[in-house]
Amino acid sequence: MKFHVMTLFPEMVEQGLHTSILGRAMDAGIISVNTVNIRDYSEDKHRHVDDYPYGGGAGMVMAAEPIAKCYEAITGTSLPAGENGGDGVSENEAQAVASKRTRVVYLTPWGRVFNQDMAKEFAAEEELIFLCGHYEGVDERILEEIVTDYVSIGDYVLSGGELPAMVMIDAIARMVPGVLTNEESGETESFMNGLLEYPQYTRPETWNGKAVPEVLLSGHHAKIAEWRMQRSIDRTVQYRPELMDGVELDKKSAKYYKELLASRKKEEE
Ligand code: ADE
Repeated sequence: MKFHVMTLFPEMVEQGLHTSILGRAMDAGIISVNTVNIRDYSEDKHRHVDDYPYGGGAGMVMAAEPIAKCYEAITGTSLPAGENGGDGVSENEAQAVASKRTRVVYLTPWGRVFNQDMAKEFAAEEELIFLCGHYEGVDERILEEIVTDYVSIGDYVLSGGELPAMVMIDAIARMVPGVLTNEESGETESFMNGLLEYPQYTRPETWNGKAVPEVLLSGHHAKIAEWRMQRSIDRTVQYRPELMDGVELDKKSAKYYKELLASRKKEEE
């Protein structure tokens, strides 16, 4: 799978992603990350990419033209000619998918909040383009022209789109076949049943006076699986109770969950 990132800080994205599991996948040629510096497409002799906002106000706005040129260089296509040629109506996500146009993700706090299901969906694409904004924003007209998906990584404001793009690429790449080893994908699957991960322990057996839970030393696989499932349920109920709504539990786990809720209720009384 190919990721293109339109950014003013290509080194940040390259260095951030070329490590660990993603670095391995890049070296193996399973994924590639092509960072493109928007500044290289400035037609200004000082290489400016931003300008003052019409209507006044603080900060600068990234101009449409360098981004348009950058997009054209990545896709090898020309944008429709706007006023005199194009229909002025931007394609939405579904149309982009239907027309096989490469989807363009713009990272913004007002986008749809990213989650594991979206990561899975994006991983089915052969190619994705990310547009990282900076300053006070990006000229709306280029967004209307090229963006198919507006995505946020959470309800807080960051200084630019690079970190969100990196977060998304990491989560998406992990869903691409061949990126994770069998063992690694098994672990992801177990999280993807909708529950939070169970606690993990490694050597030594006793640390700082705390022993590893007995059952994990037993070698009894079924008992260990049951213990882990119950701890996952405990954790989800404690930290993210709203996730429990979308979880399907087997009979034994459902019974455990019911009892857990009953005992928590009793404690509250
Ligand atoms: N750009 C700035 N803040 C962001 C956020 N929370 N998510 C995505 N893009 C952003």
